[in-house]
Amino acid sequence: MDIEIALLEAWMRDYYHKVDHDIGSSGVRDLTMAEFRQLCGFEMSELDSMVFHDSESYGGSVLRGALADRWTGGDRDRMMVTHGSSEAIYLVMQLALAPGDEIIVPTPAYQQLHDIAAAAGARVTRWPLRSRDGFAADLAELRRLAASGPKMIVVNFPHNPTGISITAGEQRELVAIAAEAGAILVWDHAFGELTYTADPLPLPLWYDRCIAFGTFSKSYGLAGLRVGWCVAPPQLLARMAVLRDYIALYVSPILEFFATQAVRNADRIVALQREHAGRNLRLLSDWAASVPELVRFTPPAGGVAAFVEFHGQPDVVRSCRRLAEQHRVLLVPGACFGPEYRNHARLGFGGTAAELTAGLSLLEQVLRSDAGMVVNR
Ligand SMILES: Cc1ncc(COP(=O)(O)O)c(C=O)c1O
Repeated sequence: MDIEIALLEAWMRDYYHKVDHDIGSSGVRDLTMAEFRQLCGFEMSELDSMVFHDSESYGGSVLRGALADRWTGGDRDRMMVTHGSSEAIYLVMQLALAPGDEIIVPTPAYQQLHDIAAAAGARVTRWPLRSRDGFAADLAELRRLAASGPKMIVVNFPHNPTGISITAGEQRELVAIAAEAGAILVWDHAFGELTYTADPLPLPLWYDRCIAFGTFSKSYGLAGLRVGWCVAPPQLLARMAVLRDYIALYVSPILEFFATQAVRNADRIVALQREHAGRNLRLLSDWAASVPELVRFTPPAGGVAAFVEFHGQPDVVRSCRRLAEQHRVLLVPGACFGPEYRNHARLGFGGTAAELTAGLSLLEQVLRSDAGMVVNR
């Protein structure tokens, strides 16, 4: 398969494990096992009776049931447990599309949401979220684009990398647009549980052609768990099970044990992370307001990433490299989301307050020096 390099993941491969201050990732602060156990109230000794059996193609029945209770009103037949939502995205894009099908995806977007489809021969139409409009979703424009009758519309609200979202009314309008076009609506809920300006949106499962993805990586602080889920029509899940027989077969029962604890205690975990992220967002907003000559910033409605535009920078990718290599600070250049975003960077504020403060201070230093300004204010 001829597939584009996943630029964001390639950047992470180069720098994620070589920095002290992470202000680039899109997930909240990862929990330690001790914190996780305390939040959920379980003991490691509960694992002693676990037998290293295989799990099930669609996910072990306990975890699948817990996820179904949280997301599908108890309907397990539409739920599959996957290795992160990444596996779900891959399986869906491979199986729900045929060469020549049209798929509409926002730009910017998480690359896996369009380039797996492109590699499978789909025609990708981009729905622009414009920097000058604070990246607001323009549904009138989506309606115009969808007049061509695409096979699939893919969205992700709150959105990576901008953190923008839509209202409940706009979500209904989005479903109406997909329904009029006869399109599958892919709803990537990676950041769906972590919102600031409004309550989390529901999964739009009242639309029978909706496919939804979720993950423990972003709002829970369990990125290393590598567990996600997919809600899809049972016929599609059956085809996904057949394809994953050639890849990973099923998710480890050890991971499923921890994921079950996480779903059962989801509200407590996410509430804690939201409180922490909200404080960091205020830190970031204050910093951005103090350096208007350097950055432009639309505060995110959810998630823990913002897409920041830099002023007067000759080469943001080079600045990001310098930041990582000389100052051990991780930032993600906007160019990882497409060449038109070369003046932007994804700034993550999910880490500790100390690493955010230190990271912003070093970022400011590098931006001032690269823009030829006096470094010490
Ligand atoms: C929008 C979006 N969807 C899905 C994923 C995949 O995450 P995971 O495989 O960890 O669940 C990511 C990861 O960055 C993402 O940003």
